[in-house]
Amino acid sequence: VLLLGVVAVAAYLLGSVPFGIVMARLFGLGDLRKIGSGNIGATNVLRTGNKLAAFLTLVLDAGKGAIAVLIARALLAEDAAQIAGFAAFFGHCFPILLRFAGGKGVATFIGTLLALAWPVGLAACATWLLVAAVFRYSSLAALVAAVASPVLAYLLGHGEMSLLCILLAGLILIRHHENIARLRAGTESRIGRKST
Ligand code: G3P
Repeated sequence: VLLLGVVAVAAYLLGSVPFGIVMARLFGLGDLRKIGSGNIGATNVLRTGNKLAAFLTLVLDAGKGAIAVLIARALLAEDAAQIAGFAAFFGHCFPILLRFAGGKGVATFIGTLLALAWPVGLAACATWLLVAAVFRYSSLAALVAAVASPVLAYLLGHGEMSLLCILLAGLILIRHHENIARLRAGTESRIGRKST
């Protein structure tokens, strides 16, 4: 139990590293929280027009969830891997370093799912890509992929992940409340549109 606590706290702290902010600084793009939606994720880095910085943010934010899962699995067991993935996701959304004002968790959610059961992660990615390709809204793609994830996990024979997926989807919905309002109002920004 002690080791599980240490792993969960470590996963939370890893999850709370805001790679979007770090990449925006490294690439000289300014303070990400003053750009576009103000969010710290890859979608908002892409609004600066720097695709490499956005890609690195996506991979690193996803990597936080994946690494947390893999370390917990190696040290403990599958249940612990789920808890660690959740902790990393929670860290991204509510990081102590940013006074709990973090991101929306989509990349970390995908990384966590990929490491827990890659077919479920791939199915969530495919759902995101399909919705994004059709509607060009990153937030809508994330919302559909998140809500679909418990069902995808169940259908792919990973019913043990469904509860975690429901929890993550619930938090992703909450973190996207402003996006949902913009989608309903027709003012959400589309992928590929720059903003300053
Ligand atoms: O991954 C976050 C995405 O779903 C929405 O980001 O910047 O459009 O609020 P953003």
